[in-house]
Amino acid sequence: MKVILIGATGILGKIIFKELKKYNDIDVITVSRNGATDIHADISSADQIKAMYAKVGSFDSVINVAGHCWVGPFDEMTEENWYSGIKTKMMGQINLVMIGKELINDNGSFTLTSGFLSDDPIKGTINYSVVNGGIENFVFAANIELKRGIRVNAISPGVVLENYDGMMNTPIAGQYPVSHERVVHAYYKSAFGYLSGQVFRVWEPSTQYIRK
Ligand SMILES: NC(=O)c1ccc[n+]([C@@H]2O[C@H](COP(=O)([O-])OP(=O)(O)OC[C@H]3O[C@@H](n4cnc5c(N)ncnc54)[C@H](OP(=O)(O)O)[C@@H]3O)[C@@H](O)[C@H]2O)c1
Repeated sequence: MKVILIGATGILGKIIFKELKKYNDIDVITVSRNGATDIHADISSADQIKAMYAKVGSFDSVINVAGHCWVGPFDEMTEENWYSGIKTKMMGQINLVMIGKELINDNGSFTLTSGFLSDDPIKGTINYSVVNGGIENFVFAANIELKRGIRVNAISPGVVLENYDGMMNTPIAGQYPVSHERVVHAYYKSAFGYLSGQVFRVWEPSTQYIRK
C-alpha cells in the first residue's frame, strides 16, 4: 500500500508519519516544499502536482496536511489576500484530487484537511473559515463523481499542538487541544476505511462550539 503524505514535516504531518511507519504494509512517500522529504512539490502549482505524481508512480492513497491561508484583521484584508488561501489550501487540495483521480489505483483514497475554523471561527482567520468550508463541500460533491471505488474525505481537526503547556490563553482562548492519537485515528480511518464524501470532525467536545 503506497501512501503519499504531503506536508509530512508539519505538526500534523509528523504525527501521521510517526504512526503510519509502524505498519509494514504501508509505504509512505513524504512530500513538502523545502523539508527533508522524499519529494519536493508545492501543491499550489498544478505542474508540480503532476511532477510529484509522475515521480511516485503507482499509489493507493493521498493524505494532504499542507496548505495555508492569509491571517490578519478583516478590516485590513484585500481581495488579493483572499486568493492566498484559495490558491494554496483550497485549489491545491482540489487539484490533488482533480489530477490524481486519473492516476490513483482502484479503490484508492484522498484525504484532505479542513479545520475547526469553518464551524467555530475566531478573529483574524476568515480566509481559513471560508476555505475550510469550500474543502468540506468539495469532498461532499466530488464523492458522487468519483469512479473505480475511489474515495475522498476531509479531516477537520480541532486545535492540535506539538506540545501542550496547559496555558488557556494561547493559541486560542479556552480551547482544549485535541490529542495526537485522535487526530491520527481520523486520518487512518479516512485513508484505509470505508466511508467517502465525509468530514471527520476531530474536536475536543468540551470546548468546541458545534454549529447548528
Ligand atoms: N495544527 C492545528 O492545530 C490545525 C488545526 C486545524 C487545521 N489544521 C490544518 O492542517 C494543515 C496542516 O497544519 P499544520 O499545523 O500541521 O501546519 P504546519 O506545521 O505549518 O506544516 C505544514 C506542512 O505542509 C508543508 N507545506 C506548506 N505549504 C505547502 C505547499 N504549498 N505545498 C506543499 N507542502 C506545503 C510544510 O512544509 P514546507 O514549508 O517545507 O512546504 C509542512 O510540511 C493546515 O491546512 C492547517 O490549516 C491544523
